Amino acid sequence: ADPALVARVEALVRLVPDFPQPGVLFRDITPLLADAATFADVVAAMAAAAGEVDLVAGMEARGFLLAAPLATALGAGLVPVRKAGKLPGPSLAETYDLEYGTATLEVHPDTVPAGARVLVVDDVLATGGTAAATVRLLERAGADVVGLSVLVELTALGGRARLGGHRVDALLTPA
Ligand code: PRP
Repeated sequence: ADPALVARVEALVRLVPDFPQPGVLFRDITPLLADAATFADVVAAMAAAAGEVDLVAGMEARGFLLAAPLATALGAGLVPVRKAGKLPGPSLAETYDLEYGTATLEVHPDTVPAGARVLVVDDVLATGGTAAATVRLLERAGADVVGLSVLVELTALGGRARLGGHRVDALLTPA
């Protein structure tokens, strides 16, 4: 990606120590979202890195914020990947491990045509649990997952290794 854009993004992703719990360094993208030019340039850069896709899938909640504008930029549809119990129709579910406990994500499979090329989008790739569950959901629905696009990949946490070799694009890759 353009180094000048990477520097602007770095300056607008705020580091918050000990949130939401002690020992976690939280990446807060709200300053970036509030900066009109950088938000637009980030979406354009993610779109430029993506190939041809039919759908963009975003994970609740922060993934939605990037997935929706990226979908329209790519001329693709949007698939919201939601936390348990939010979707009204017949859904597929995948449960994954958190540091303490588990979480479940769900999708409406009837919005994913067989063989649809799907790009998975989120703000942060950390342990990869969220992304791996999303890939499993989409593949169970019949999608062809073409890759993942994230703003920040925390490379030291090894999330990429849990994604079955799928391509990962990231704008920022702090250790
Ligand atoms: C955060 C982030 C990713 C996920 C990354 O979401 O937006 O979806 O964690 O972590 P992982 O790679 O270790 O799974 P969070 O669950 O905090 O939900 P939110 O977007 O609703 O705040």
